[in-house]
Amino acid sequence: MTQTTAYPPNLALPPAARPGDPLTAVDTPALVLDLDAFERNLDRLQAAAGAAGVALRPHAKAHKCPAIALAQLRRGAVGICCQKVSEALPFLAAGIADIHVSNEVVGAAKADLLARMARQGRFSVCVDHPAQVAALAEATARHGSALAVFVEVDIGQGRCGVPDAPAVLRLLDALAAHPQLRFGGLQAYQGGVQHVRRQADRRDAAQRAAARAGEVVAALAQAGVACPTVTGGGTGSVEFDLASGVYTELQPGSYVFMDGDYGRNDASSAWRFEHSLFLACTVMSVGDGTRVIVDAGLKSLAVDSGLPTVWHAGAESPQLVYAAANDEHGIVRCRDAAAPRPELGAQLLLVPGHCDPTLNLHDDIVALRGGIVEAIWPVAARGLSR
Ligand SMILES: Cc1ncc(COP(=O)(O)O)c(C=O)c1O
Repeated sequence: MTQTTAYPPNLALPPAARPGDPLTAVDTPALVLDLDAFERNLDRLQAAAGAAGVALRPHAKAHKCPAIALAQLRRGAVGICCQKVSEALPFLAAGIADIHVSNEVVGAAKADLLARMARQGRFSVCVDHPAQVAALAEATARHGSALAVFVEVDIGQGRCGVPDAPAVLRLLDALAAHPQLRFGGLQAYQGGVQHVRRQADRRDAAQRAAARAGEVVAALAQAGVACPTVTGGGTGSVEFDLASGVYTELQPGSYVFMDGDYGRNDASSAWRFEHSLFLACTVMSVGDGTRVIVDAGLKSLAVDSGLPTVWHAGAESPQLVYAAANDEHGIVRCRDAAAPRPELGAQLLLVPGHCDPTLNLHDDIVALRGGIVEAIWPVAARGLSR
């Protein structure tokens, strides 16, 4: 979020780092991005999508960072997804004109903002109820804008979405009265598949989910309705979704960073994305010698998907375990009581368990190549959750 805090004269908060600084000089806690690994992740998925003839519309909820979205678009992504209407604002401001709000929108304020943004770009949104259609129709008519509308189908997650083709057809009837609302197709996302650990189990679950989407597409075709786009999928299912023959567009987000939770999925080397995002932290106390205390806790790390792992020399540290998170402190223990432990002031790198909510805690990403800071990227959609 834009920093609006007023500071005393000459005492503005300095940036965590400046281009040219070494990693060791980054003021912590700070999110640091290994640009080489990050770019390999982007290239790998874009190449696979291109080879499968499936469009890639990466999800920006994972990074909330326009510089990252622009890097994805430069490689061939057709646009981006945002999960919230307000989240799209900084991406639109950065010149990204093709944005799918992969979510239902309820409430006059949100419909109004979306309709206003749709005057400046190609926007689409999901519905699963006629009242949402009515609100979008009213707002777009008022602002003279147009939207592509996707009907979300529940393919097993039990979250948003209608259950079947008859329910889709009822929503298409509601859409038909509003020429400014074009049927974009179906959204079919099954979040419950993404972290199924065994690859074979994940494949089976992803195939079951895609088959449910395929049944709806086939039933609509029988009723004379073509689905221009079927969009969905995430980092854990993307290899199966690309081969499904059902999806025409995929929405993975976390593959850019590969957080700790995704790192615990069993995946073939072709589909193993690299950890590119770390939280740099500093040993701020060595306690009584049984532990070290780092300056990164709950206010700089999300732990809903597990505590972070400590990263050392390109791999998970065999010795150091991040054992507990307090608000501003992290307790790091050594597996071997006799092993040397990090000294006061030492910098440690943590792999966050869950990237999306971790990014939402930070103003900037410090992007490095070969251990040298190359750029500071604002997490411009941080906090934009309306
Ligand atoms: C609708 C939708 N699409 C795509 C994604 C991207 O998933 P991931 O970051 O796991 O790749 C999510 C994640 O929650 C989602 O909710």
